[in-house]
Amino acid sequence: MNRERKYDKTLLIDRCDKDGIADAAKHLREGEVVAFPTETVYGLGANALNADAVEKIYEAKGRPGDNPLIVHIYDKTQIEEIASEVTPLAQRLMDAFMPGPITVIMKKKDCIPDKVTAGLDTVGVRMPSDPTAHTFLEACACPVAAPSANLSGSPSPTMASHVMNDMNGYIYAVVDGGDSNYGLESTVVDATGSEPVILRPGAVTKEDIDALLSADTAYAGSLKAGDVPPAPGMKYRHYAPGAEVRIMMTPESASRITEIDEETEFKSLPEEEKQALFDTAAPYIKDVHDILASNPLARVGIYAGSEVKTMIAKLDDKLTASHVHFYCYGKAGDVEAASHGLFAGLRHLDLQAVDYILAAGFSDNGIGKAYMNRLSKAAGKKGEISPDMPQKSDSHISREGELSYDAFENVFTASVLFVSEENRALSCACEAIMTSLLRKNAPFCAEGDTSIGAELYCESAGLYAIDGEGPDKQMVKALKECCDINAAHHLAVRATPSVYNNNDLIIAMHDEQAYEIVKAFPDIADRVFSISTYAASKGLVFKNDSGKVLSVSIPDPKGENYETYCHTAKALKAWLEILLPYIVKDLGAEKV
Ligand code: TXA
Ligand code: MG
Repeated sequence: MNRERKYDKTLLIDRCDKDGIADAAKHLREGEVVAFPTETVYGLGANALNADAVEKIYEAKGRPGDNPLIVHIYDKTQIEEIASEVTPLAQRLMDAFMPGPITVIMKKKDCIPDKVTAGLDTVGVRMPSDPTAHTFLEACACPVAAPSANLSGSPSPTMASHVMNDMNGYIYAVVDGGDSNYGLESTVVDATGSEPVILRPGAVTKEDIDALLSADTAYAGSLKAGDVPPAPGMKYRHYAPGAEVRIMMTPESASRITEIDEETEFKSLPEEEKQALFDTAAPYIKDVHDILASNPLARVGIYAGSEVKTMIAKLDDKLTASHVHFYCYGKAGDVEAASHGLFAGLRHLDLQAVDYILAAGFSDNGIGKAYMNRLSKAAGKKGEISPDMPQKSDSHISREGELSYDAFENVFTASVLFVSEENRALSCACEAIMTSLLRKNAPFCAEGDTSIGAELYCESAGLYAIDGEGPDKQMVKALKECCDINAAHHLAVRATPSVYNNNDLIIAMHDEQAYEIVKAFPDIADRVFSISTYAASKGLVFKNDSGKVLSVSIPDPKGENYETYCHTAKALKAWLEILLPYIVKDLGAEKV
């Protein structure tokens, strides 16, 4: 499904901005799509009484509208407006768990268009407990149909930046309510009969429902090939990152293991605890080795508790250390924390362009049921994949929306990496500017061969970066105001060998940084430069009016005033515009 960019930019509205929320709510009521936070994940909302508005949700998600949507309310009195029958069971569930992370399926009223329910005669009703959701839905003053606010095929968003990454330019606004509390979508319960059926596990668990009803609640059966899906949404491969996901069942899965950090005297721990820690980390190392045996350049992501990272560091396995990116959800064994971080972790690791993700598994009860349900879907376990499951690369293509490489017989990818200290200001700016230049100049083809497409990318990293740190705010502001480039969603990446391996050309901000890289990794010396040595290697010499040769080195604006940041942003843009054709050529490509 083609996505059409509708807005120059999507408004990002802070939860404290009353006027902004009122404006977004008014636009939603009048037919626009607005994303809003909830305690589970962010939703992509439209007026549930307006079929044309609901259609726009699907255009923004890039998927046909054949999945029933949940209708969101802020007050239980709205239920009479949308449901034709509230069974005693539905009433009990709502009394106990609403507002909260539950969706209750009831018979619908005629005013709810078929577009919302995918032609079913039932409707899912949900009343979020998140205070920003409440404020926003109240301002909308209409029932709001909303699926999760991710692009079709990518993990559900748990932060406004995730929504922006997927939706910028495609919807009117995003209300930023911070990090979603639970991080997994609501429990969906069919309450049209006298016995509840759990269609999708979530933070309201089977155990919670059993305790309320003194019963043994049923889950809707897992799908077998050829079955008609009970909840139509289950036929899609959801929550899928680009990498191959493997589930790691280790002692971490069963219980909390001993908390340790870098300072812990490992030797002094009781034998059993040591063994459990070792047994938790060792399978990851083994898998990394197995992966590297068949693909020596593979980048591997690990989604696990912090003890796994600490243990792997303690075991000091060089091969693993140099190929792995971590995203730690919290203390090992904390299944709530693992659920909360799962989608953010999958997205983060995906951005590191890892080829594999090794993710901690948990036992299948309580919230662990919902966690394992989402993780197995990400891992593409059989039974939940549709036969026409999108190919791995689809998400990249639709994310790049405007670039079309369909016309080429063959397409190769190549990328340039900019390196600085912290990856929060200079290199982050270079990435944002270069990405925008590459987009503007695309498509590219192989040098001298127009039948082969060249998808060119840009990354950035920092020699001393802390993975996942946000960008320098002044830099973001300067890029926005001086270059009209958005870098707000940048996340810092540590420059590691696997990052270097993934890039064909490496340009550091300063000579010393380039030297440091070459010293540590002499075998990549022929593709490492600083901005000034790169310019010099192309014979580019710049002089001012009086003939003095100008330095190409860009000082770090950190700690300087905003004016310096603006100056830096403009200078970087000017340099990169000059260097663009040389970079494209070095990546083996040319403009079509
Ligand atoms: O936490 C959540 O539920 C989030 C937030 C935004 O509220 N929403 C969400 O929506 O996850 P979505 O569209 O990604 O998933 C909705 C699920 C699907 O599995 C869908 O099939 C099921 O709810 N569903 C909705 N209405 C239904 C109905 N009438 N009958 C059966 N299943 C229904
Ligand atoms: Mg969804």
